Amino acid sequence: MSRPDLFTAIHKAIRAMVYDAGGRLQTADFADDRAATTTTADLIPVLSLLREHHHTEEEIVFPQVRPFDETLIDGLEAQHETIETLLTIAGDAVSATETAEPASRPDAGAELNKRFNELAAFYLEHLAHEEQTIVPVMWEHFTDEGLAAIQKAIMASAKPQLVLDWLGWMFRGLNRQELVSMLSDAKASLPEPALEGIRDLGAANLEPERWAVIREQAGL
Ligand SMILES: [Fe+2]
Ligand SMILES: [Fe+2]
Repeated sequence: MSRPDLFTAIHKAIRAMVYDAGGRLQTADFADDRAATTTTADLIPVLSLLREHHHTEEEIVFPQVRPFDETLIDGLEAQHETIETLLTIAGDAVSATETAEPASRPDAGAELNKRFNELAAFYLEHLAHEEQTIVPVMWEHFTDEGLAAIQKAIMASAKPQLVLDWLGWMFRGLNRQELVSMLSDAKASLPEPALEGIRDLGAANLEPERWAVIREQAGL
């Protein structure tokens, strides 16, 4: 049986979010007032979740792994610094598009698309790099219970709305087996009001037929 890791589910959620955001951004009509406003407004929470993910790794995961492989963590933190710079540049491009005059907004939107692509390219490569490097180190040095304890600390540190935001992207980013396993665990450990919120989120993010199958298999 495969061992648990702290990265697959959240990285799949991030990829689903980045693919979705990139697709909408590169097809947006920035000459249209409403479309421009919606597109930039939708990107702000995407940038914020990308930033949140690497802060959580730095605060909760990396300190646990540093004693076993200092060079690895130094390298990952250096990539995070680059990501921070790219996030700031993309955020500035969002602001520039929001405040552009209507006549220059299409050009500002095209620039924003380029900046987002640069961020997405680096970020996606970074995710794959983490999966290839830190996951095996953690498997070597932590038991399944140890990994579960770190996962628990991550969940405990997150505000409830943040957990729901990530869960929404997990619904869009994970396969059936992964969702059934995650929701079965949730069923066993969470109170009914929280489960009700999860059911609403599943119904909002999955096609009805797919959701019905997953819900039944998870006993939700
Ligand atoms: Fe990272
Ligand atoms: Fe990551």
